[in-house]
Amino acid sequence: MNNFSNIRLEENNKEAIITIDRPKFLNALNQKTLEEIDSVFDVLSENNTLRGVVITGGGDKAFVAGADINEFLNVDRDNAKQICENGHKVFSKIENFKVPVIAAVNGYALGGGSELALACHMRLATKNAKFSQPEVNLGIIPGYGGTQRLAQLIGKGKALELMCTAEMISADEALNLGLVNYVSENKNDMLSKASEIIKTISRKAPKAIENVIKSLNAKYDESKDGYKTEIELFSECCATKDFVEGTKAFLEKRCPDFKGE
Ligand code: COA
Repeated sequence: MNNFSNIRLEENNKEAIITIDRPKFLNALNQKTLEEIDSVFDVLSENNTLRGVVITGGGDKAFVAGADINEFLNVDRDNAKQICENGHKVFSKIENFKVPVIAAVNGYALGGGSELALACHMRLATKNAKFSQPEVNLGIIPGYGGTQRLAQLIGKGKALELMCTAEMISADEALNLGLVNYVSENKNDMLSKASEIIKTISRKAPKAIENVIKSLNAKYDESKDGYKTEIELFSECCATKDFVEGTKAFLEKRCPDFKGE
């Protein structure tokens, strides 16, 4: 039994759903919630049958309406750095998680909430979802990786426009920009879509999925050469039993039975 107070974790063998659950504050990320998100990924990393994770918001109104503004009054130049670094550490853990993490955005994804979604590998949204980086309204900038990840996803010009105007965009606009992968009618449909994606992924070789994530992330890591990383990780896959199984299954015209070995 996990002792979380601001998030909920449901696990059903291959899929885990994390719900950020502070609906009274529109699921705003205070430091405790960030700590719990950090811990829950440590818990999930021990689960070897896991094939996908979904992060969503509790209640109907918000995914996450940003960092918790109540905590801002105590922020100064000195502790701001520590707060940002901590957020970066947690979101980077999500981005580098071994199985795909899907943000299921119901309602507002603002500031740190949008950045949380950006750190996930894919984003689904309900029709009523709204995205914004409104930090400039408070005299600050996105501090949990948003300036980098938003530009990676939608390009520099549009990312700058959204961050400088603090404009709030709809799910359909986010879809057009490539910020979200799919828009669903309601939360149930969105969670079904997320499960469907995870089911599809769970039929593939786990090492191949893990290495796709690692290789793609290397593109955005200045300390790595993405092409060299791809060669390394491709070779690593070729040393697995699942590679032999996948190849044999194709030649024998049957479905592969991947064991994650
Ligand atoms: N931090 C802390 N509390 C927050 C919050 C945040 N980021 N966002 C919303 N809340 C709280 C509100 O203070 C309010 O609390 P109250 O009921 O005790 O007054 C409650 O959540 C509901 O929000 P409310 O503003 O009444 O709802 P609304 O429907 O009128 O507006 C938003 C919704 C999301 C547009 C508005 O809450 C908002 O702009 N939030 C701040 C977004 C933001 O700037 N985030 C980035 C921070 S860097």
